[in-house]
Amino acid sequence: MNKDVVIVRGEKVVDVSARLAGEKEIYIVHDVNVANVAASVARALPAGVVRGITGIVTSEELKTMDTAVKLAEKFLEADLSRGALVLAIGGGITTDIAGFAASMYKRGIRYANIPTTLLAQVDAAIGGKTGVNLHGYKNMLGAFHMPEFTFLTASVLETLPEKELRCGLAEMLKTFLIGDADAYARAVSSGFSANNLDGQDKNDLIFRAASIKADIVCRDPLEHGERAVLNLGHTFGHAIEHCSGGSIAHGEAVGMGIILAAKLSEGLGIAEKGLAAGLEKDFQRVGLETTCPYGIDELTAAMKKDKKDGRFILLKGIGQPIITTVKEDDLRKYTE
Ligand SMILES: NC(=O)c1ccc[n+]([C@@H]2O[C@H](COP(=O)([O-])OP(=O)(O)OC[C@H]3O[C@@H](n4cnc5c(N)ncnc54)[C@H](O)[C@@H]3O)[C@@H](O)[C@H]2O)c1
Ligand SMILES: [Zn+2]
Repeated sequence: MNKDVVIVRGEKVVDVSARLAGEKEIYIVHDVNVANVAASVARALPAGVVRGITGIVTSEELKTMDTAVKLAEKFLEADLSRGALVLAIGGGITTDIAGFAASMYKRGIRYANIPTTLLAQVDAAIGGKTGVNLHGYKNMLGAFHMPEFTFLTASVLETLPEKELRCGLAEMLKTFLIGDADAYARAVSSGFSANNLDGQDKNDLIFRAASIKADIVCRDPLEHGERAVLNLGHTFGHAIEHCSGGSIAHGEAVGMGIILAAKLSEGLGIAEKGLAAGLEKDFQRVGLETTCPYGIDELTAAMKKDKKDGRFILLKGIGQPIITTVKEDDLRKYTE
């Protein structure tokens, strides 16, 4: 997968039509909750180019091979050729499934993403990982298949529920914490979630976060090394999600996980004292929950199921991640 990561930005979603000029066959796969966005994109394209539109209901339970195969069947019914482009419009579930279906159809046709959740804009729709769940195991089947481009516009987020916005915000702050201290300061001081940012600021921050992820992915497309820094807060986060039985969403858990990773970084002497308290204050200001409701015993038990190598992404400071191994004793000592 030695293709570049291409990010295109626009004010309105219909601006994507400029990037699609020259395409002869487009198949739109969209989340049913953004059917209106898909309809406006379809209307903005020249007559005859859109060969089909399918809306999918999204949930982790429906993120399956069966759904991907049903999409491939639709592609076949529409008689899509090898030159066709699948356009995925929706959150990370939609872009993961549609990208995976495109990666399989005729041994791989092109696809592009219009992510409509903040999480997908800064994370899921960037970098070419596609896939579906298998027997409840997340993303167990999949392919590295780089999108032709990912189109970003904050305008699609207006209808996004608050909880989804918070999840995306946590991943966005994670990205700035590993890659851009200035952008982190801008994001937490401007209160992204509080609607007091104008569209330009939002677009800038989203574009910056997506670009940081894109740069990391370009340096490590198949996740052999550096790409792991994107998992800041995720070892704790996955354990928190697991302990909550799903009531704490992924992004919310990552937010709490980052605070625990910061405490651990301080305890081990990797970061200066005060890092965790500072981040906690910032996160609270933008509406993120920072207190993990589970004790370290519960978390370590859950972590042992998920991850056995003891490796953590920690912070030397804002914008300075490191990957290191942590002994269980230290983990207990510094995160209690
Ligand atoms: N491929 C990757 O690199 C990668 C990275 C991170 C996450 N993921 C995957 O992404 C998925 C999570 O993505 P997500 O959080 O975007 O979830 P999602 O696709 O389920 O979207 C969240 C909810 O928001 C709704 N929605 C989407 N856009 C909307 C809008 N503009 N207005 C109103 N409602 C809207 C959806 O219908 C859904 O109910 C997971 O399956 C995860 O595995 C993939
Ligand atoms: Zn994540």
